Amino acid sequence: MDSLVLNQLFRQLFRHPACQSIRRSPSSLPRSQTRSFLTRRTPAKRKVQDDGMLWVKRGDITKNIDEEYRTYPTVTAKELRSRRERPRQVKMLTREFIDDSLYNPHYGYFSKHATIFTPGEPFDFNRIDDGPAFHRMVGERYIEFEDRLDEIKPDIARQLWHTPTELFKPYYGETIARYLVSNYKLTLYPYHDLIIYEMGAGNGTMMLNILDFIRDTDYEVYQRTKFKIIEISPALADLQYKNLTDALNSRGHRDRVEIINRSIFDWDTYVHSPCFFLGLEVFDNFGHDTIRYDCQTEMPQQGGVLIDAAGEFHEYYNNQLDPVAARFLRVRQAAARRPFPSPLGPRLLRGLRSTPPFGKAHSLPEYIPTRLMQFFDVLNQYFPAHRLVASDFSSLPDAVPGINAPVVQTRYQRQTVPVTTPFVHQGYFDIFFPTDFNVVEDVYRAVTGKLTQVMSHEDFVDRWAYIEDTETRNGENPFLTWYKNASMLMTV
Ligand SMILES: C[S@@+](CC[C@H](N)C(=O)[O-])C[C@H]1O[C@@H](n2cnc3c(N)ncnc32)[C@H](O)[C@@H]1O
Repeated sequence: MDSLVLNQLFRQLFRHPACQSIRRSPSSLPRSQTRSFLTRRTPAKRKVQDDGMLWVKRGDITKNIDEEYRTYPTVTAKELRSRRERPRQVKMLTREFIDDSLYNPHYGYFSKHATIFTPGEPFDFNRIDDGPAFHRMVGERYIEFEDRLDEIKPDIARQLWHTPTELFKPYYGETIARYLVSNYKLTLYPYHDLIIYEMGAGNGTMMLNILDFIRDTDYEVYQRTKFKIIEISPALADLQYKNLTDALNSRGHRDRVEIINRSIFDWDTYVHSPCFFLGLEVFDNFGHDTIRYDCQTEMPQQGGVLIDAAGEFHEYYNNQLDPVAARFLRVRQAAARRPFPSPLGPRLLRGLRSTPPFGKAHSLPEYIPTRLMQFFDVLNQYFPAHRLVASDFSSLPDAVPGINAPVVQTRYQRQTVPVTTPFVHQGYFDIFFPTDFNVVEDVYRAVTGKLTQVMSHEDFVDRWAYIEDTETRNGENPFLTWYKNASMLMTV
């Protein structure tokens, strides 16, 4: 990483001070998820514009951005795809900024430094003493894994994280495969083939584990199985292909697998066949919009970020909602079967809060999953006979302030560095959100017209895994207990 980039990164980190480390990295395995958040937030100043724009000026930047706001164009992540440099002198909605920051092919988080840990040989749980011993082993394998990578190509900004697919391979893949084959046999066999799409396949481990399992347990079904990966990251798509061809066991799989290097949001092929559609830890990186509310009128305002000529970020809010955010709020309102959290808090307290001098003019932001709603549109439009199997975090500790707010963190010299805002140097920070499964289930039903089931990761594993495979000597079972904050959404 060149020194200019480093300087910029550290200016960002300094401006948005770090809190203690959290998840997805070795020092952030699940037991450390409850550490408190130690950030200090700079007081924000607000300015109201005639055109309904309000901006939030950070304490350390004294510049007035009225002129820039009027003259800078509003750009989308798609428009920035061909650009090699991070944009300046533009405005972006929050979801567009997040998408650009994570997925820009030249500087996005998933384009360069992102690496998913793989333990090499699967863990032999039955020979591990207990949960803490497993925890230690994961830490050791992490270090070995990264030492090996550094021998080939040192990278002080390597972004390394772990997923259940990797930690519990091949058992997680086998668990999902059992669910798929049972449901396939109950409802589609023998009239249809088993067609599995996986969006966002990481290292491709889930695909290999599912195909190995089906081949070894039901060869007849295996012969009728097709597995298609839809992967946004060119680097990960290459790795998936490499892992497929390198796997000793995978010779027969090659004819069954297709790896399509494309974002699901660019999908344009109609798939009429019934299929299963997997998305495991993919929702969490989908762009969200920020909405805050006027505490007096309760009217929503939509957030965005202005990037000035010096590359500084200025957060702003606008009374005008764009059609996507407006539609999400409408669909949620119409579809919700249960009350959902609001940054305005419980209705009874709202009057009190907004009364000066105690009240604030605006609520904290809520982060709404607008891209996720658009993903459901893609499913509905192009995969009418799909059955979704999705897993993600239902809550995340140490998120930035707000409702349904993301964790924003980078990794530098093997240390996790969380910050307090998503508006930070694009490409160096993972930005990942919890999924409110209550709301998302209702939105999915409204968009696709399908029925669903939500269950905790633990219940799903309990139902479909051979849990004795992942039991340690003292009877603990990390596969059941490690992902307490994850849930599954399935089409029924
Ligand atoms: C956190 S990783 C999870 C990887 C894998 N599912 C696992 O559990 O190990 C997220 C994956 O989703 C991919 N991804 C994110 N957004 C995507 C999109 N819009 N279309 C296709 N793939 C996407 C990323 O490149 C990455 O492979």
